[in-house]
Amino acid sequence: MPISGVLMQANARPGRLAIVTTVIRWKDRCIPSLPSTRAWGSRSGRSQDAGTVSVHVVLLACKTSIAGTSMKLGFIGTGALTAAIVTGLNSVAASDISVLLSPRSKDIAAGLASRYPNVRVAADNQEVLDDCDTVMLAVRPQIAREVLRDLRFRRDHHVVSLIAIVSREDIAALTAPAEQVTKALPMPMIAHGLGATIVYPPNPDTAAFFGKLGKVIEVEKPGEFDALSVATATYASYFKYLDTIHTWLKDHGVAEAKARDYIASLFKALGNAPETLPDADFTHLAQDYATRGGINEQILRELTERKVFEVFAESLDGVHRRILAS
Ligand SMILES: NC(=O)c1ccc[n+]([C@@H]2O[C@H](COP(=O)([O-])OP(=O)(O)OC[C@H]3O[C@@H](n4cnc5c(N)ncnc54)[C@H](OP(=O)(O)O)[C@@H]3O)[C@@H](O)[C@H]2O)c1
Repeated sequence: MPISGVLMQANARPGRLAIVTTVIRWKDRCIPSLPSTRAWGSRSGRSQDAGTVSVHVVLLACKTSIAGTSMKLGFIGTGALTAAIVTGLNSVAASDISVLLSPRSKDIAAGLASRYPNVRVAADNQEVLDDCDTVMLAVRPQIAREVLRDLRFRRDHHVVSLIAIVSREDIAALTAPAEQVTKALPMPMIAHGLGATIVYPPNPDTAAFFGKLGKVIEVEKPGEFDALSVATATYASYFKYLDTIHTWLKDHGVAEAKARDYIASLFKALGNAPETLPDADFTHLAQDYATRGGINEQILRELTERKVFEVFAESLDGVHRRILAS
């Protein structure tokens, strides 16, 4: 949906009522049942404030594309990530978006369709494309080409690829003639409205969609997207770090559940530190917590001396090389 076109129109000729009317008519066509459209249009029509008019247009456009009944969202691939997004949509965003799933991972697909009235399972992948305007690609990278090359995309499809390590250019070639192709990288906690989704290139529709389900970080350069993707390779190691602490505590007589609760609370609090101290970078946070001569300083020094962090940075380089080579 050409939201950016709407923004450009509204901003290029601010204050012209005709522009707003155009938008409303255009929206009327897309969402005939939107109840507030006409009332809103006439209110804004009397406004002489060009800035207000523009802002209202933006809000209306975002609202209707994300929460409106016109959005038909399809998924090719119904695995862990699709389940997380659909769950998030229904539990966090109270969605009235209709969702069509490809008929794979039958248990997951059937579970989602039975839990949520706005979700149904298609007969095949092509039906997902034929019945939807926004299509999220959520198959594993290894089979992406094989799955996509047999499908017929339309020019007006908005394709959002969630497939890690396949470039936007490759996806655009495989989904031609679709004109809007965006990459997005959410995390599984999206099911609970937590975490951040990286979006490349910036796209108001995609940003508004994932903005309902957590934080969105839009990037303009593919290199930035690739580098940020490397950070998503660190989740398992993070939990292994916590597991090391947990195992140590259990070995030293702390009850399993108590140790788990304590670790979870500690790291939740530490996770909030960057937001509570927005001016402190991570080096400073590490220094703040490493009281001179204290026990935090001891572990940080010992791990640093053993080059644990250097090895970790080398692993980040390795993942980066892998992403760039794909
Ligand atoms: N999980 C995450 O946290 C995460 C985060 C960011 C990005 N990603 C990316 O998201 C994509 C999906 O990840 P995932 O974790 O959800 O993987 P997954 O659980 O393995 O799901 C992959 C899905 O693709 C389906 N599939 C296989 N062949 C298909 C075909 N021919 N047509 C349609 N669907 C087919 C599978 O169905 P069957 O089970 O029936 O084979 C399964 O439903 C990957 O590219 C991954 O890189 C994942």
